[in-house]
Amino acid sequence: MTDSPRPVLLDCDPGHDDAIAIMLAVADPGIDLLAVTTVAGNVTLPNTTRNALRVLDMVDRPDIPVAAGRDRPRARDLSTAAVMHGESGLAGPLPIEPSRAALGVPAIELIEQVLRDADEPVTLVATGPLTNMADVVERLPHLHDRIRELVIMGGAVDLGNWTPAAEFNIWVDPEAADIVFSAGTVPGGDTGAGIELTMIGLEVTHQAWLDDAHAAAFRGQGKAGQFVAELLDHFVGFHQDRFGWPGAPIHDAVTIAHLIDPRLVQTMPMNVQIETQSALCMGRTVADRWSVTGRSPNAAVGLGIDRDRFVTLLLQRLGTLP
Ligand code: RIB
Ligand code: CA
Repeated sequence: MTDSPRPVLLDCDPGHDDAIAIMLAVADPGIDLLAVTTVAGNVTLPNTTRNALRVLDMVDRPDIPVAAGRDRPRARDLSTAAVMHGESGLAGPLPIEPSRAALGVPAIELIEQVLRDADEPVTLVATGPLTNMADVVERLPHLHDRIRELVIMGGAVDLGNWTPAAEFNIWVDPEAADIVFSAGTVPGGDTGAGIELTMIGLEVTHQAWLDDAHAAAFRGQGKAGQFVAELLDHFVGFHQDRFGWPGAPIHDAVTIAHLIDPRLVQTMPMNVQIETQSALCMGRTVADRWSVTGRSPNAAVGLGIDRDRFVTLLLQRLGTLP
């Protein structure tokens, strides 16, 4: 008897790697992608929302509802990563207009409806700034028991990627991240109040890179494969030029791969606090790797990944798309 597919809601800011995360969630038979919500981050909210709709068209899933969330961080101006993803957010593939509009309700209302109506607790995945997830923590306390867990791409135990101290998703909206981590508990721990939280940070995702050879493998492999190849052409080129890396880390897809194969990512319970005051270290995830603070762990923090297993899984699943 195979388990029924895991119900998932993905909150994202597409974004090249968010787009691949959406495609992986749709491709895996063990995941039931109930809805996609969008947040301002990589690019502005109209563009992240248009991109989510475009990607779902690309994989022939215009039935999956999309709702737009917050268009700016909670307590500061929006700073985007358009330099990396292009102003559109999906530089590379030819810009095609979505077949539909997003729902006329804010993301928090779609999230509430999904949590309320699902047959079982829903896994939330967040691959952008945590602005919408902070709303879930604060505005849906009556539905926290309908959340199986929250898996985020964000943060780092060691160095950042957007500043020397901080990873982009957390840096964009540190106040939101602080609210989310303050509500976090360790998955499988004592089921006290709070939301079971897994942090997939840069120690993991910087190993999850694809390169030109992977782009070549996708090229011509149907509509979806061609789309991924064109995404990688831009994304790999940017990372080779900007960082001198062999390829581009597909950060966000690791959150979905972690749901598909829990053996992929090695995690450790840690206390994680968010820096919201220091100009120098704003948005840093202060992860107590050696338990020196005495603070209780509030998340399972990713420390490593079986890279070959990840790449094999990603290529195999994406290869099944039309
Ligand atoms: O730091 C990487 C994260 O920032 C990824 O989610 C990427 O899409 C950007 O949002
Ligand atoms: Ca993202």
